[in-house]
Amino acid sequence: TTATVRVDKNFRIGAIDRRIFGSFIEHMGRGVYGGVYDPGHPSAVADTGFRGDVLELTRELGATTIRYPGGNFVSSHRWEDGVGPLENRPRTVDLAWRTVETNAFGLHEFMDWTDRAGVDPYMVVNLGTRGPGEAAALVEYCNVAKGTTLAELRQKNGAADPFGVRLWGLGNEMDGSWQVGHRSARSYGEVAGQAAQAMKLVDSSIETVLCGSSNMTMSTYASWEAEALDAAYEHVDYVSLHQYYDPEKYDEQSFLASACAMDRHIEDVIAAVDFVRARQRRQRRIHLAYDEWNVWYQSRFREPYEWSSMSDGPRAIIEDDFTVRDAVVAGSLLMTLLRHADRVRIACQAQLVNVIAPIRTFGATSAWKQPIFHPFALTARHARGDVLRPELSAPTIDTDRFGPVPAVDVVATHDETDGGIALFAVNRSRQPITLHGTATGFGRLAVTGHQALADDDTSAVNTPENPLRVRPRDLPITSAEAGNCRQTLPPVSWNLITLA
Ligand code: AHR
Repeated sequence: TTATVRVDKNFRIGAIDRRIFGSFIEHMGRGVYGGVYDPGHPSAVADTGFRGDVLELTRELGATTIRYPGGNFVSSHRWEDGVGPLENRPRTVDLAWRTVETNAFGLHEFMDWTDRAGVDPYMVVNLGTRGPGEAAALVEYCNVAKGTTLAELRQKNGAADPFGVRLWGLGNEMDGSWQVGHRSARSYGEVAGQAAQAMKLVDSSIETVLCGSSNMTMSTYASWEAEALDAAYEHVDYVSLHQYYDPEKYDEQSFLASACAMDRHIEDVIAAVDFVRARQRRQRRIHLAYDEWNVWYQSRFREPYEWSSMSDGPRAIIEDDFTVRDAVVAGSLLMTLLRHADRVRIACQAQLVNVIAPIRTFGATSAWKQPIFHPFALTARHARGDVLRPELSAPTIDTDRFGPVPAVDVVATHDETDGGIALFAVNRSRQPITLHGTATGFGRLAVTGHQALADDDTSAVNTPENPLRVRPRDLPITSAEAGNCRQTLPPVSWNLITLA
């Protein structure tokens, strides 16, 4: 079986915004405590309590922008509780995950951690129990250089220079009944617009993200985006999208084709925000921030949690073990985000460590990579420059959810600086498929490498005992002539083919 693809230098979708390779750290389960922060761990960095092994894997993952501190957690969080001398920090209730928050890891720790990890912070403000005043105060604390009481407080707390946080989220999933302080679309749009206005009056260089729907099944989906944006347009830059893809909700072929749902999701939200643009006769476009996406075995998840005092340490929540199949889907979701590079400017895989995450920790052993780590890391490293629109012709597979869908999906990127092309390809079928590719307009390019994430056992996982069980493997180069690619995509696989 074969699929053909043609890539031309002139079929350009848009430049890749590096923030598309974002991730997310929430105070949830063992994401922070026991994840990024664990003073008792052998790899802990002196005087910080940060796990050195997690820092190292974060750099290797290539994540660029980290959303923090939630998630649902943010909607009852007071940032002031997490600054100042440790011994003065209160123990507070976290209403989202029904646990005690020690506040040992707070704002300064997060900023220090982002510096060491080489990532940019993406801060979310609490619009659940708090409002525009507290949101503007947080921007002042973070970004005003000196001369105000809050700026001086930051300096007294050890940060002489401003943190310079550029990207700000206006609450989290405010359409959801589970969210502390959730509201109607209009009411949220008004408060979010007021918060963004005040925050930008403090620092006009920041950008803000309005909450879109929590997922595509919300009853207010699409009208929420339009109504909230209608009230806030002037002061916001992005609308957020959240969606998790559950391996157990539909048949396996439908799960492997999850990217079809993501494509549709992105198209829907573009339609909703452009509708408001038209109605308000605006020039400026609103772009998309897909700031929670991943595979998640959500049907195994039960809420609400019983109250936990954390006396036995942080409890594990949604620490899914991801399989090869999950990694193929995660890789194809990232390809879909790239394909929409003209409108999707920010995306965060949720989350970074332990909580439905590419990086896992377990006690004193070293952190390890889940299978989903690999397509993310390879894409972040190799997708450079522009995204190109490939002309693809592929056989189809049948799915219960979407009907027939192409068995193969391909996204191409082109880096003008070194002239190379990266082809990202997914094979959703149970058969090997040979990809015949032609590249025009680039000079004489030849295939230089082919890595695939695939396995005879598509349910294989990585464990602390066997952390390298699932990893990308080099496949032989079978493309003879320059300008052509003839590589076989293994069954149920995610692939990276490079041409230079
Ligand atoms: O990522 C886990 C949770 O999923 C987040 O707290 C919330 O925003 C979403 O519903």
